[in-house]
Amino acid sequence: MTIVVCNWKMFLRHSEAIKLAEEIAKQELGKVKLVILPSYATISAIEKSDKFELGAQNCTTQEEYGAYTGDVSAKDLKEIGCKYVLVGHKETAPRSKWEIRDRGFAACKAGLVPIVCSEDPMELACLPSPHIIAYEPSENIGAKDPMAMEKIAWFVSKLKHMNYNNLPQSILYGGSVTEENVKEIVSIEGLDGVLLGRAGSNKESLFKIIEKLQ
Ligand code: 13P
Repeated sequence: MTIVVCNWKMFLRHSEAIKLAEEIAKQELGKVKLVILPSYATISAIEKSDKFELGAQNCTTQEEYGAYTGDVSAKDLKEIGCKYVLVGHKETAPRSKWEIRDRGFAACKAGLVPIVCSEDPMELACLPSPHIIAYEPSENIGAKDPMAMEKIAWFVSKLKHMNYNNLPQSILYGGSVTEENVKEIVSIEGLDGVLLGRAGSNKESLFKIIEKLQ
């Protein structure tokens, strides 16, 4: 199975996201394990389906409820049906490695699996277990081309050879993945899937990517 995580960012209106999830639910996904990350406002409105799992695009560092205006609790995300949460995405500022780590711990404590975005394998020590790593180089997010294949392969092999006692459950690559390059990217040894931005928010390109991965 190849994991495809769709970060819908703020690309889709509420009604468009609901509709896209309905279309996905009618689709044959074959060898693809699909995860969708709608906006906070839309997660609850997405009709549950056995075709995909749900996640959120971020969560607070706080493990307990309290006076944190505007924050979103990982416990609430779990309660409304999320299984995953993306943490440390470059578009969510501010970001320090400690803050990302704390978001990951809050997610795990709530029973979610954090998908931790990173550019540097060295900053990934001390993450909670289980977790997923997404290699997302900032210069390739929303860009024309993905990172060079050798560099993605280097990152994956570096992670696999780290002496961490809690290795990631899966490793993904994100940044300008399209239907043209997805096949080559997932052929990288040790890579379990991709994290899509634009291509995962558009029905035609998402379905083409799913087809390519069969
Ligand atoms: P693009 O696929 O649009 O480059 O975005 C990647 C991304 O940020 C996924 O989280």
